[in-house]
Amino acid sequence: MSVGRAEPPAHPARPDRPVLRPPKEMPRRRNFGSPAGRIALVHALAHIELNAIDLAWDIIARFAAEDLARAFFNDWVAVAAEEAEHLALLADRLADLGARYGDLPAHDGLWEAATVTADDLLGRLAVVPLVLEARGLDVTPEMAARVERAGDAPTAAILHRIYRDEIGHVAVGLRWFDRLCRARGLVPEEVFHDRVRRCFKGDLKPPFNHAARDAAGFPPHYYEPLAGGLG
Ligand SMILES: [Fe+2]
Ligand SMILES: [Fe+2]
Repeated sequence: MSVGRAEPPAHPARPDRPVLRPPKEMPRRRNFGSPAGRIALVHALAHIELNAIDLAWDIIARFAAEDLARAFFNDWVAVAAEEAEHLALLADRLADLGARYGDLPAHDGLWEAATVTADDLLGRLAVVPLVLEARGLDVTPEMAARVERAGDAPTAAILHRIYRDEIGHVAVGLRWFDRLCRARGLVPEEVFHDRVRRCFKGDLKPPFNHAARDAAGFPPHYYEPLAGGLG
């Protein structure tokens, strides 16, 4: 397929449900031991994956006019396909648990990163794969372990699968971020610090999963200087 030109919408289409709520009104999901707690967790993750599908296609559509290698678009199509698989796995798991996507309210803040970086490809790469998806690498192993301890092996297996794929998404993000910075004569880690400070609210949250970040080729000197205090 050739890469065409289109004006992507400011916001992706959304089903009538879930009802979207401001982040601070979202119930906390702490108790993975109860069936309701696990449904809430899987529902929240399904919502994140739906946004991840849209973010991958948005980067393709929104930056198609820039002079990018075809491999750039191929990489994000592959990411979008994996995000769709993640959503499908979670939606099937919700059905096993007697629920479906849309049953609970969901967080309406996930598109903000896209809006803030709509005119800035380096900002988009810094915030979406290298802050948000990398954060997923930090929190997913503990989440999988807790779900497993609660006796829910199928959900834990989905989390492990997502975790493996997301290492690849961070790697894709970093590869293009570095390549585009160097092509513009910029120092990647300096641009990363600048864009995260301008486009992302708050500090990065340690502890970082160095093993997973290293596996994605993402070195600590990019993210450590942006870390806030513990907790
Ligand atoms: Fe995903
Ligand atoms: Fe991803």
